[in-house]
Amino acid sequence: MPLKRGVQEASVKGRRVLVRVDFNVPQDAKGQVADDHRIVEALPTLRHLQTSGARMILMSHLGRPNGVRDMRFSLRPVVHRLSGYLGVPVPLAEDCVGIHALEASARLKNGEFLMLENLRFHPGEEANDPAFAGQLAQLGEVFVEEAFGSVHRAHASTVGVARKLPAYAGFLVEKEIRELTPLIDGPIRPYVAILGGAKVADKLPLLQSFLGRADSLLIGGALAFPFLAAQGAQLGDSKVEPGLEEAVHEFLTLAQERGTRVLLPEDWLVEIPGQAEAEAAPANAVPHGAIARDIGPTTRDHFFAALLESKTVFWNGPLGLAEDPRFAAGTREVLAGLATIPGRHVGAGGDSARVAQDLGVADAFQYLSTGGGAALEFVQGAALPGLSVIPDA
Ligand code: ADP
Ligand code: 3PG
Ligand code: MG
Repeated sequence: MPLKRGVQEASVKGRRVLVRVDFNVPQDAKGQVADDHRIVEALPTLRHLQTSGARMILMSHLGRPNGVRDMRFSLRPVVHRLSGYLGVPVPLAEDCVGIHALEASARLKNGEFLMLENLRFHPGEEANDPAFAGQLAQLGEVFVEEAFGSVHRAHASTVGVARKLPAYAGFLVEKEIRELTPLIDGPIRPYVAILGGAKVADKLPLLQSFLGRADSLLIGGALAFPFLAAQGAQLGDSKVEPGLEEAVHEFLTLAQERGTRVLLPEDWLVEIPGQAEAEAAPANAVPHGAIARDIGPTTRDHFFAALLESKTVFWNGPLGLAEDPRFAAGTREVLAGLATIPGRHVGAGGDSARVAQDLGVADAFQYLSTGGGAALEFVQGAALPGLSVIPDA
């Protein structure tokens, strides 16, 4: 993938620069920022713009409020953390469009920041509504794409605005392209992908291009549910996304044709509501009332064995509900094992990066991407709308 025209080439002094960041960070039960990897990774671009005398207007989504103003998804806690890093106050415009945002952006002085409230409070964002994109574009004179985690979304703030203003890639986007491109262009084999997480319906269609490209796929977490369900497994009260049976069968047939081995869980650790201790269960026979929460010890061993010969590894998605210490062992043990194996290891995903840090296994990876779905699509060679719209370097 060619590099994109970078922010260092933009003439920004005294100009209003609209920066799309991906501050869709994990939050704790109180709504505080639980992991700030995505904020920290955007800082070099923000500091570059600040010292260049630009006037920064930052925009992001957080979660999936589905087009309504739902304050549980406010960017307030994010702005608090960001101000701390930048050492200057970052005011939050209560709405990302409209007269107040316009006035606040017009009042900015050189080197000052303004953050806009959650873009997804408006349905026009995800619909890439031209009128909404126009309202956003009015706020700035230059556009900088720094939200690598969102470049797989053709939304108003990633694609719409980039068509209306001179568009540049931020340092993080450039770094992600540089680090992830070797995985598209002939990874050293054997190439193994470890896949888990919870955005199952989103991710399943994104995995097809691994078939033939990767030698083995190790599938755990809730992502394994539709695979096992399609083979007739009883998964107790685990939440199995409906309607994926045909897609799974097609996927497994294609895997066989293209010679990619798919390893699924053989055992689980399950949660029985009201019971403090986790219990073990076979992967295809979760008792009624129990919920599969983590891969079990046999699966851990088999996943580790499959990694032993690997030369390149891509990981996205925890192998269980790793935020709960009872269900963290699967992810922790497999990644701790990976840390002992030489080779090029790349991890990806907002939640995955946090889990790797929290479990103390981030050193299994030479690179942790800020993108989840975006990185998944990128490493399979897909054209990402938020990148296609930025001119090449
Ligand atoms: P990422 O943000 O890294 O792309 P996802 O958003 O797809 O990953 O999924 C991450 C979440 O998946 C984690 O927070 C983890 O708790 C959850 N998860 C994985 N397996 C399970 C499971 N069996 N039950 C419940 N949650 C799970
Ligand atoms: C992510 O966390 O993967 C990105 O912020 C995109 O979020 P989305 O899947 O809700 O579009
Ligand atoms: Mg996530």
